[in-house]
Amino acid sequence: MDNSSVKIKLMKAQTQNLPPSIKPSFIGGHFFKFRRDPTGFVTELARLGDVAYFKMGGQHVYLLNHPDLVRDLLVVNAHKFVKGRALQRAKSLLGEGLLTSEGEAHLRQRRMIQPAFHREKIKSYADSMTESASKMASEWKAGEARDIDKEMMRLTLQIVGKTLFSANVEDSTDEVGAAMTTLIEMFNYLLIPFSEILEKLPIPHARRFNRAKETLDSVIYGIINERRKSGEDKGDLLSMLLMAQDEEGGGAMTDKQVRDECLTLFLAGHETTANTLTWTFYLLSQNTEKEIKLHEELDRVLPGGKIPTIEDLPNLKFTESVLAESMRLFPPAWALGRLAVEEHEFGGYIIPKGALVLLSMYVLQRDRRFWEDAEVFKPERWLHENAVKEANQKFIYLPFGGGIRRCIGEQFAWTEGVLLLATIAGKWKLSLLPEQKIGLNALMTLRPKYGMKMKIEKRHRPH
Ligand code: HEM
Repeated sequence: MDNSSVKIKLMKAQTQNLPPSIKPSFIGGHFFKFRRDPTGFVTELARLGDVAYFKMGGQHVYLLNHPDLVRDLLVVNAHKFVKGRALQRAKSLLGEGLLTSEGEAHLRQRRMIQPAFHREKIKSYADSMTESASKMASEWKAGEARDIDKEMMRLTLQIVGKTLFSANVEDSTDEVGAAMTTLIEMFNYLLIPFSEILEKLPIPHARRFNRAKETLDSVIYGIINERRKSGEDKGDLLSMLLMAQDEEGGGAMTDKQVRDECLTLFLAGHETTANTLTWTFYLLSQNTEKEIKLHEELDRVLPGGKIPTIEDLPNLKFTESVLAESMRLFPPAWALGRLAVEEHEFGGYIIPKGALVLLSMYVLQRDRRFWEDAEVFKPERWLHENAVKEANQKFIYLPFGGGIRRCIGEQFAWTEGVLLLATIAGKWKLSLLPEQKIGLNALMTLRPKYGMKMKIEKRHRPH
């Protein structure tokens, strides 16, 4: 689509040197446009240049739309920025967990949590991952329809519970899952100006939010209490957190601190991977040729429907490429925001202290300047050795972010994604129901707006 076909008006600010922007709506300015269709809005804005501008609830927002500028923000000058408003506001839920903390506290927490994500540790989670996936796949029946979005959420939540906290949240996953969904939906609402005040009022939104928070707190404090009582060292993240001593001599972590870390990891560790798998099954259902190639690899590497193990991972290259390509087109974290704590210049524009700087993986990873057949699902582009690493280094592919705040669960997510996809697609073929509408719900993560009802069909394996 060329610029003239989009209703954009370049607004050159006369007095300040502001980057180009889109004409705001008469009522609500840019805010309503952004909320109605966030990915569409940033895509339109990005066409205006490498730096574009809009205003939301009195906040100046600068969108960076070039990999060099993104590297500058996340790596070179990361010290000049803190997490954006959505995450600052998320503190009312997550407290001071790894996702929301800043500075020294963040580094301390990152060091403490890191061992749970070491390569060897992740290998030890593999059996748990495939066990949960094959149990779920064995409960499915040929010919039935299931909402894959919900199934994947349930599955990945169970896996985080089991691997990091040795907790069986299976019995309560529906309740916990519903509470998590409420909280994720609330993130949109957290961006509304004055939401700090709204949150305290007895309005339905705030009531739902508080109820969801109570549900999750009761589950998580329950897990913590049980472990404290048993005193057992299970060698998992929860035991690590409970045994950790503050380096500065502040003693052990309080229950509230442990709760903040646990809730953060429960939330950050399940939703994103679930979305990736859901979009992957959707993409496969729309690209039969790629689906056949995937099934061929699975039948070759895992003959007779064998359940994959960690040793199979190096041979599941096409499976991994399918996931990489799915995260390119539907990055679960579709945008990142940072607040400037000091003035900085990006692409010739001075960004003042206090401004919000935004980048969108959704836009960058579909940019025709950097991607051939940008809109096409082509897993083959990831097949050559180091393809993901090279694209990461160029900052044209960053589903896990970059710099010091890069995702701590990246390796966990790759391992889990490949094992789950191989286990499920090894047994079933999933086809989109004809009446299933597809839309994007770009909240904190990129979710399918209308769910993802798919028909479960038997795979025909070679003999
Ligand atoms: C496909 C799966 C995943 C994607 C796409 C993803 C994406 C991201 C991104 C983009 C960030 C950076 C946020 C920022 O810079 O503002 C991040 C941070 C984080 N992720 Fe993930 N993530 C995934 C899976 C996981 C898993 C499985 C876990 C844990 C089990 C996890 C835990 C975290 C945590 C704790 C942070 C904060 C790290 C810090 O600030 O030091 N993520 N993730």
